[in-house]
Order: sequence, then C-alpha cells, then structure tokens
Amino acid sequence: MEEILESIQSSLSPGLSGEFTVPGDKSISHRALILGSMTIGETIIHGLLESEDVLSTASAIDALGAQVLHKKSGVWSIKGVGVGGFKEPENVIDCGNSGTSVRLLMGAVSTCPIKVIFTGDNSLRKRPMDRVVLPLKEFGATFSTNFGNKLPINVAGNQESIPIRYELLVPSAQVKSAILLAGLNVRGRTTVVEREASRDHTEKMLKAFGVKVIIENKDQFSEISVDGFSKLRPIEINVPGDISSASFPIAAACMVPGSEIFMKDVGINPLRDGFLVTLVEMGANIKIMNRRQNAGELVADIRVIYSPNLTGVEVPKQRSAKMIDEYPILSMVAAIANGPTIMKGIRELRYKESDRINAVAKGLIDSGVDVIEGEDMLVVNGKSRKNIEGGSQIHASNDHRIAMSFACLGLISKKGIKVNGATSINTSFPNFVDLMNLIGAIVIVPKRTT
Ligand code: S3P
Repeated sequence: MEEILESIQSSLSPGLSGEFTVPGDKSISHRALILGSMTIGETIIHGLLESEDVLSTASAIDALGAQVLHKKSGVWSIKGVGVGGFKEPENVIDCGNSGTSVRLLMGAVSTCPIKVIFTGDNSLRKRPMDRVVLPLKEFGATFSTNFGNKLPINVAGNQESIPIRYELLVPSAQVKSAILLAGLNVRGRTTVVEREASRDHTEKMLKAFGVKVIIENKDQFSEISVDGFSKLRPIEINVPGDISSASFPIAAACMVPGSEIFMKDVGINPLRDGFLVTLVEMGANIKIMNRRQNAGELVADIRVIYSPNLTGVEVPKQRSAKMIDEYPILSMVAAIANGPTIMKGIRELRYKESDRINAVAKGLIDSGVDVIEGEDMLVVNGKSRKNIEGGSQIHASNDHRIAMSFACLGLISKKGIKVNGATSINTSFPNFVDLMNLIGAIVIVPKRTT
C-alpha cells in the first residue's frame, strides 16, 4: 500500500545547509506530457516531476491514446497520437487534486470528436471550471454537469470546431493554455487576449515543439495566437527545478539563523520570479548565479543565506500572477519581518486547492501572529522571530502549499507546529520532508501509515 503522510511536525531548527536540486517544475512537467502526446513520434522527458498531480496527467494522456513509458527515475517516453488524434477513453478521467491537469486536458480534448468525463478529488470538485468551460464552448464543444460548472463534467468535443479569439476574464495560465491547446486541433487562428501576463510555459514549449506562436504586445494587453493543425515535432526536454517548490527551502534559509543553502538548476522564468523579487525587496540575502537558457526557459543556481533584517513590504497587485502560488510561504516570511507586509489583489488565492487567504490567516493567528484578512488582500504584521509562539495544529485542507508553508514556520517557532492533512504534499513535492531533513531542518512524520 502507498505511504500516507498524515501529519508532520516541525520544530526549532539549527542553521540549514547543503547543496541540492529541487524536483522538476510542475507546470512544465504537465505541458511536456500533454504536448508530447500531441506529436507523432517519441518525446523524451528528463527530470519530469513524479508527483501525484503530474502522474494524473500521465495517466490521462495514456487513457487518451498516447503511449506513456516510465523509463527510469525522472525519464519518461511519450509516443503521441498527433494533433487532433486523441481517442475516446474507456473510463472517467480522474485528475485527483490537479487543477492544471483537468483544465489543460479539457482544452486539449474539447476540439477532438470524442466524449470525455472528467472528475477529481474533494478539493478539485469544489474549484470553478466555468473559467475554461466558457471559452471552450465558443469552439463548439458541449459541456454538461449537474454541479454548476464544477466537476464531474462531461465534455463532448466537436468535429466542426471553429477557431476563437478570447479575452481572459481572470489572469490564468491554465485558461490561456486550455484555449491554445484546443486551438491546435482547429483549422484557422486561435487568439488569447491577456491583460495581465501569466506564466508562458505553454507558449515557450509550443515553440520548442516547432509550432509558430505569434505574440503581439500592445499597450494594455498581449495577443497570443496559434494556427491550428500546426505539426508538433517530438523533442527531448529537460525540466528545470520548480521555483515554487524551491520557495520553501529558500524561505526557510532566510528565516533560520545560521543558514546557507545552494540550489542548482532552478527555473526562474521572469513570469514566475515575483517571490524572489519580493524577498530581495524585504532584505533577503539571495544570489542568483549562472543564468542560462534551457529550451526557451531561463534557469539558474540560487544561493540563500540567513537574512536577519527582513522588512515588511507592500506587494503590488500587478505582481500577483508572477507569484500566485508563493503567497502562503511569503506570508510565513512576513510573519518575522519588521513591520507589516501588505499583499494586494490576491482574490485568485481563494480558488486554489483551498481558500489560501483564509487558510494562511487562520493558521498564522493560531500560531500567534497578527493578520488582517480582506476579501482581496492580506496583511501580516511581522514580529521578532523569537516571539513566534507556535504550538499550533494547522489543518492543511488538502492543500500542499499550506502544509509546506506552516512546516517552514515551525522551524523558527518556540513550540513547533504540527500540520495535519499533510498527505497533499505528495501532489507537488513528494520528497519535501526528506529534503528538508537533509539540509538540517527538524521535520518529522509522527505517524506513518503504510
Ligand atoms: C498553473 C497556473 C496557476 C498556478 C497553478 C499552475 C499552470 O494557476 O496557480 O499552480 O501550470 O498553468 P492559474 O492559471 O489558475 O492562476
């Protein structure tokens, strides 16, 4: 039976140190599998993140007709079905906890002449799907659900799909990608209009697969277009380390006195670097070295040294898309910064694996930190690291980033922090506890069920 990580307990730790790599980027891993499944020929992926979310995508493309082979640790071979070639799956596609899997795959199948039923776990079934359903209907696909645009959803793709031009209503790389993937199966040009730039891994990877992506940057918005039935040629991909996973040891090293860590091969795509930018503004001691390009993605090595003089800052709304997954861990750093950290324009956090504004606010208050929770914002009033009480039990509500964030805060708290419902860590960072232990953090798993 699979190991279940039910709860983890973190305690006051000595300085963290070590040189290591973090697991592969989750967003890039999903896209590598999906685009690989749309080629004719063999795509080889090195450094694929082997977490539950990404494995959901791997099973889904297998069910849709691609040949998926796990060659060895991190190395996968995908033999695709070609553009428009997905076959109707024999069973429901269960995407588990993964919003990226379901939203991107709904796009990719909605313009193929097949019927697919998508579902997910308790958390995913509560998340809004209208953001992808609305644009995908415009291609001609039909969606039916008994649950108000929430999963389970039946998608019936349309053979006579028409290309669309769609302006995003929320800044979302998942929605943008769903539309671009749908557009690949449709003759003619599909265009997404984006007012706030979101992560562009799909655009970059499409180019690496040989697809022409037309990007026009206007004053107030950008237009991203693809021409349908462009051929994708199979490639070999190296997935860089995930900056979102790296954010946990980065934050921990900034917070724990005496720390110095060095991470190699981390993706630092400029549309994902908001957390690093914010930490540097707060006074964190972070050095980004050896910047290089890898299949269109910017990669670097990162050194982080304990940062005793962190100051609270105002994180502008315009930065939110560039660090959307890092607000929970930023809030932990903010808890020990001098003065308030004000995070504005973060409503989207309420629609993630949990309501992250509320989960962070509640957990910090329970740990003895003063916060103000607004509908679209969060203020964390920092205090000296010596005054973080801890002794709290946090409920991670099926949310990996909440679990890992509070585990990091526990490393500097007087009485430690216990995180319940930490199994969700397996969705993005299965070796989190081992890696944190390796660099000296005291994180234990009090009860392991196997
Ligand atoms: C992702 C986009 C983001 C992010 C998610 C991964 C992606 O979601 O929160 O973890 O891979 O495209 P939104 O596009 O909904 O902001």
